Amino acid sequence: MVFRNRILLLTVLFVVFSSCKEQKQTEIEEETSFQMYNLSPMAALMEQMYGQMAHAKEVIEQGSEQIDLGEFPVMHNELLTTELTDPRDRDFFFTDQAEKFLILERKLYASSKETIVEDYNAVVNSCLACHIKKCGGPIPRIKKLFIR
Ligand code: HEC
Repeated sequence: MVFRNRILLLTVLFVVFSSCKEQKQTEIEEETSFQMYNLSPMAALMEQMYGQMAHAKEVIEQGSEQIDLGEFPVMHNELLTTELTDPRDRDFFFTDQAEKFLILERKLYASSKETIVEDYNAVVNSCLACHIKKCGGPIPRIKKLFIR
């Protein structure tokens, strides 16, 4: 029992400190429920953003006459303040990218049928622009969000 607890603890530490690494992908699949609980506030916000984009993609691809994504998710403004796994990640580059991201995301939520695919893909590109420098692991997942 003691032995088992130690294994669990090691797994948690591994997951928390490697949230931007490639290996994380498999860890996530195996331990989703356990692991979500241990995400940093920023990682949890990112997962929420991912879900929001996946939902937007679905709505856009249905291509109905009235495309309604709902309200701009104001909680995404917390990108500018939420705690990161590694606080050093919040540098000039991060803040600059986060501000650009939020501008594009607001544009998406104000978009119309004619421009929505373009505006949506611009947001995905903006996710990638930050991730290429800040957090490589989720890039393959983020690329799946593109509407081709
Ligand atoms: C301004 C930079 C920036 C932007 C923009 C950004 N990310 Fe992130 N993302 C990060 C950083 C840094 C982390 C690591 C967070 C941590 O571990 O605290 C992260 C983590 C993640 C994770 C992994 C969370 C986990 O389970 O550990 C996913 C998935 C993710 N981002 C998806 C997205 C998506 C989708 C978008 C666009 C809708 C996006 N990100 C926009 C910087 C960014």
